[in-house]
Amino acid sequence: MASNSFGTHFRITTWGESHGPAIGVVIDGCPPGIEISAEKIQPALDLRAPGRNPFVTPRKESDQIQILSGVYEGKTTGHPISLLLWNQSAESGAYNHLKELYRPGHSNFTYLTKYGIFDSRGGGRSSGRETACRVAAGAVAQLVLDQFGIQPLAALVDAGGVSSIDPKSQIDWSDKDLVSRIDQSPIFCPNQELEDVIKNRIAEAIADGDSIGGTIEGIVFGMPIGLGDPVYEKLEANLAKAMLSIPATKGFEIGEGFDAAKMSGYDHNDRFIHEKIDGNERIGLETNHAGGTLGGISNGMPLRFTVAVKPTSSVRKLQRTIGLDGVEREFGLAEGAKHDPCIAVRAVPVVKAMTQLVLVDALLANQLISSFVTKGYKETNVCGL
Ligand SMILES: Cc1cc2nc3c(=O)[nH]c(=O)nc-3n(C[C@H](O)[C@H](O)[C@H](O)COP(=O)(O)O)c2cc1C
Repeated sequence: MASNSFGTHFRITTWGESHGPAIGVVIDGCPPGIEISAEKIQPALDLRAPGRNPFVTPRKESDQIQILSGVYEGKTTGHPISLLLWNQSAESGAYNHLKELYRPGHSNFTYLTKYGIFDSRGGGRSSGRETACRVAAGAVAQLVLDQFGIQPLAALVDAGGVSSIDPKSQIDWSDKDLVSRIDQSPIFCPNQELEDVIKNRIAEAIADGDSIGGTIEGIVFGMPIGLGDPVYEKLEANLAKAMLSIPATKGFEIGEGFDAAKMSGYDHNDRFIHEKIDGNERIGLETNHAGGTLGGISNGMPLRFTVAVKPTSSVRKLQRTIGLDGVEREFGLAEGAKHDPCIAVRAVPVVKAMTQLVLVDALLANQLISSFVTKGYKETNVCGL
């Protein structure tokens, strides 16, 4: 039952229900001396917040973060950082009729069977609302990653299967303006043409009283060589677990992913080359089919992965199901009920946050804390290479 914590060295524990008074996260293991403020965390939460535009749930939450502990004179102390978000749009009445039945595609069947009790107000712990805490913790993790120039980004590259773009070859992910383009897009799209196609598809789903799934591309620039450990702490294994812990995710691929199974060894191999970075010679790779890891350890290439998100289970269309009393019945969400027509949109900042959490944990696993304190961040060599 103790399953609300993630990470080993930078460990987060989230708490709270969708329609309780508040939700929050406790971060244990954040290195001391990092400049931090609510203003530095807030922008990430604003991107994930509901009610931003017609393509996400109309639930209104201001998601103003409060820092309760672990910070002194604007810096982290090395002690638990506690972050709190009040729930403001917790009208549970709209969920009363859902209390009596098993919701297809939602978690109340398994939760009820396992625990014998379920907080049905907005899905309780299984609600997407819990992911706000991950985003807040991810923003804190990024303050550490910034010291090393590690920059994760995530973007929506398909929804409902309409994308005509190959995100691997047709988007210039190294374009410096891409981050602001994605953040300014109401659906986190890296490309205007793609954004228009996906928006139309989401609007169609809303009009049909239905929902659609989507695909998110994750990329991390500024990767050092050496993050991740062999065997059970492989970087891609931890990333996979992180991504599949996000509600509604159904698939994870790294590099060529499932397409690797169709390639020959000659074509899939990333060949070593001499390259110059900032005037320094180093051994690099010609291609990045592996997606940035070898043997579970980052190889200095950008990390590249893809996450599949299922269509939202809450739909207005009538669906057949079974009531808790065993009687078969039909139900659909009421007109105007608050839900995400395409969860993949609001899952984009969550994918970025989980990436930040995995990477900061991998950095700290390299036992850098003492080096942080004695040498300072700038002089710290990530893995002694
Ligand atoms: C940001 C976010 C928002 C979500 N919003 C909804 C929603 O409005 N309606 C819904 O049925 N599910 C929503 N979900 C998904 C459910 O939480 C999830 O499908 C459910 O807990 C069952 O878990 P599973 O899909 O991982 O098996 C959302 C998920 C995320 C990450």
